[in-house]
Amino acid sequence: LAAIEIKLSDVPEGATKTFEWRGKPVFVKHRTPAEIKREKSVNVAELRHPEHDDVRVQKDEWSVVIGVCTHLGCVPIANAGDFGGYYCPCHGSHYDGSGRIRKGPAPLNLHVPAYNFKDDVIVIGS
Ligand code: FES
Repeated sequence: LAAIEIKLSDVPEGATKTFEWRGKPVFVKHRTPAEIKREKSVNVAELRHPEHDDVRVQKDEWSVVIGVCTHLGCVPIANAGDFGGYYCPCHGSHYDGSGRIRKGPAPLNLHVPAYNFKDDVIVIGS
């Protein structure tokens, strides 16, 4: 499928769910106020791949990333690791709740796919 639609109500606050899009996992994370605050307050200058949370999300409550580790392509585990995001068990990369690499060998943040909000859904691939 070129695009998939994900109902916002299928991902409760505090949860991360995995969907499949073009043969790849996509993580949709519904962030809590505390998680949003934490990601917004990260000092971007200290990041390996410096990106502010603002450029990685369209709405603060929702983080959408491709679930493919930027090291060698394993699928990270959601809601795991030391930074409130994802943990890749292959060689120990930790990503935060914005999908940014924080520790371990991965060189880049998790990729953000093209997506849009439409009514009560997220359209991925649009
Ligand atoms: Fe994820 Fe190596 S593939 S840490």
